[in-house]
Amino acid sequence: MRKLVTYLILIVFVISVALAGCGSSSNTTSTSSSQQNTANTSEKKLPVIGVAIYKFDDTFMTSVRDNIAKAAEGKAKVDIVDSQNSQPVQNDKVDLFITKKVNALIINPVDRTAAGTIIDKAKQANIPVVFINREPLPDDLKKWDKVYYVGAKAEQSGTLQGEIMADYWKSHPEADKNHDGVMQYVMLMGEPGHQDAELRTKYSIEAVKEAGIKVQELAKDTAMWDRVKAQDKMAAFLAAYGDKIEAVFANNDDMALGAIEALKAAGYFKNGKYIPVVGVDATVPGIQALKEGTLLGTVLNDAKNQAKAAFMLAYVLAQGQTPTKENIGYDITDGKYVWIPYVKITLDNINDATQ
Ligand code: GAL
Ligand code: CA
Repeated sequence: MRKLVTYLILIVFVISVALAGCGSSSNTTSTSSSQQNTANTSEKKLPVIGVAIYKFDDTFMTSVRDNIAKAAEGKAKVDIVDSQNSQPVQNDKVDLFITKKVNALIINPVDRTAAGTIIDKAKQANIPVVFINREPLPDDLKKWDKVYYVGAKAEQSGTLQGEIMADYWKSHPEADKNHDGVMQYVMLMGEPGHQDAELRTKYSIEAVKEAGIKVQELAKDTAMWDRVKAQDKMAAFLAAYGDKIEAVFANNDDMALGAIEALKAAGYFKNGKYIPVVGVDATVPGIQALKEGTLLGTVLNDAKNQAKAAFMLAYVLAQGQTPTKENIGYDITDGKYVWIPYVKITLDNINDATQ
C-alpha cells in the first residue's frame, strides 16, 4: 500500500513537472510576444527625417517627394511638408523640425541663397542636412561637414536638349522654314536665378551651335516652370512672330506642354504643320506628349535616383554615421555632392524614362 502511495505521489510529481514544462512553453510564447512588443517599440523609434519641398504644386518635385517616401518605407519616418513657394514659410517649417528634434533634414530650398541660414540653425542643433534640386552656394555648403547636396548637372541637361534639337534640324531641312540657314527659336525659361533655368538656357543653345548650326533668338522669357504661364507666353510669342518661329526650347516639360497647347491653338500638330519642341524632366505627361508626337524630345531628370540618394544620405547621417559610397550606394564627390546623370529621351529610348 505504501509502495502504491509512493508510486502515486511519483506519478503526480511527474505529471506536474510535465505540466510545468507546458507552462514554461506557454511562457516562451509570452516572451516572443514581448519580443514583438520590443520590435514594435523599436519600429516607433525609427529615425525621423524632416523633408521640406519648395512647393507641392510642381510636377517634377512631386515625383521626387513620392520617391523619397518610397525609399523610406520600413527604414525611417519621413515628415514631408509644403513650403508653399515661400522662404519664410520654409524657415518656420525648419524651426519646427528642429524643435521636434528630427534626426536629419532634406531641404529643397525655395531660395537657394537661404541655405546658409538653414545650415547655421541645423548645425547649432546638430541635425545633418541634405539639400536637393536647388544647389546652395559652395561657401554655404562649406559651413559644416554634415551638409550635402544631391542634384544633377544642369549644363548636361541643356547640352542633351540642344543635341536633340540639332539632330532634328540636320535630318529635317524643311525645319528651316524661311530657308535662311539659321534656326529662329524661342526660349521658355524656368525661375530666374535657378541653376537649371540659367544653365539649360545657355547650354542648349551652345550645343546647337556646337553642331554647326546658326541660331537667332526671337524671344526669351520666364514662365516659372509653369505650364499655364508657358502657354500664355507662347501665345504671345506666336502673336509677335507667328510662323517665323522654327524651334521651341523649354527649360522643363511642364512649360513645353504649355507651349504645345498654344501651338495647337494656332493650328500646329495637324495637317502636316509641325514645329519641334524640347523639354527637360521626362515627366509622365511629357512622355505622353512624346508618344503623341507633339514633344520632340526631353531629358530624364532622374527623380527616383535623386530621391533615393537624398534619402540614403539623410538616413545614414540620422544614425550618426559618415556617408560613404558603400553605405549610400552612390558616389560622393568632394565629400559633399551626389550627382545623378541626366539621360536624353526620344521616341527611340522612351522606355528608359521611368519616373
Ligand atoms: C528642375 C525641374 C523643374 C522644376 C524645378 C524646381 O530641376 O526640371 O521642372 O521641378 O527643378 O526646382
Ligand atoms: Ca530659318
